[in-house]
Amino acid sequence: MFGNIAKRLAGKTILITGASAGIGKATAQSFAEASNGDIKLVLAARRLEKLDALRDELSAKYPKLKVYPVILDVSKIETIEPFFKGLPQEFGTIDVLVNNAGKALGLDPIGSVNPKDVDVMFQTNVLGMIQLTQLVVAQMKQRNKGDIIQLGSVAGRNPYPGGGIYCATKAALRSFTHVLREELINTRIRVMEIEPGNVESDEFSLMRFRGDKSRAKKVYENSEPLTQEDIAELVVFAASRRENTVIAESLIFGTNQASAYHLYKGSLDN
Ligand SMILES: NC(=O)c1ccc[n+]([C@@H]2O[C@H](COP(=O)([O-])OP(=O)(O)OC[C@H]3O[C@@H](n4cnc5c(N)ncnc54)[C@H](OP(=O)(O)O)[C@@H]3O)[C@@H](O)[C@H]2O)c1
Repeated sequence: MFGNIAKRLAGKTILITGASAGIGKATAQSFAEASNGDIKLVLAARRLEKLDALRDELSAKYPKLKVYPVILDVSKIETIEPFFKGLPQEFGTIDVLVNNAGKALGLDPIGSVNPKDVDVMFQTNVLGMIQLTQLVVAQMKQRNKGDIIQLGSVAGRNPYPGGGIYCATKAALRSFTHVLREELINTRIRVMEIEPGNVESDEFSLMRFRGDKSRAKKVYENSEPLTQEDIAELVVFAASRRENTVIAESLIFGTNQASAYHLYKGSLDN
């Protein structure tokens, strides 16, 4: 049964945003492993040196693998179309888009959120994701084929104090994704959303607490958070089902995860 995974992924071109760290990086590693290198990966993020290092790591392990590391800042909306149109021909037809780039900044209550943080979160998590998806979906419609895999969050369903903007971005992603799935319901294009709870990924919490390592670490104390590999496995699983099978929405969290409210309450009290 599981032997089919490599066969189903064989030869596909997979575009992952935010591939330089965290869930995006783990997803690239998992796709390479699951396909035994018989895929093409477009790895996009802002830090090219990290993408190059990942390419080197994966190419050494999987000689057949083709990797194209490329700078993409999804918050710079005007750069997305040139990025997409500028992909080398070999990597230009996307079979699987993983819209992963995203972030939470701070835990400020509404009324005190820096308007710059509002812009960055919406530009990255929502506007950039929409712009890239529009371009990729238009291409997929021509082929009546392809997978869109969205990194949503439990935060999109269960908003919590201090998460006013981040939760709103993930609710927006959820709504957009739902509409896209409905619009494409009679096609071979699959639209799938994965909604993780607390994941101790490379940089998510560090980013939220603006580089404060001890605050970032505190979020995971007294719990057993998911790992970025847990989420990557689910992305690969969704992409490698039979082509008529849509894993539409997956809520995934650790067994002893506290509610986000309790996780963050300590920080709010500080
Ligand atoms: N960790 C969690 O608890 C959790 C829970 C639910 C959902 N999620 C979602 O999962 C996704 C990945 O999060 P993560 O935990 O893996 O975070 P992470 O460890 O901070 O990694 C984020 C990745 O996104 C990239 N990125 C950030 N801003 C970008 C931009 N403007 N353009 C392109 N790439 C950008 C970063 O690379 P560069 O800095 O090189 O650009 C990095 O590769 C996000 O959408 C997040 O909302 C995370």
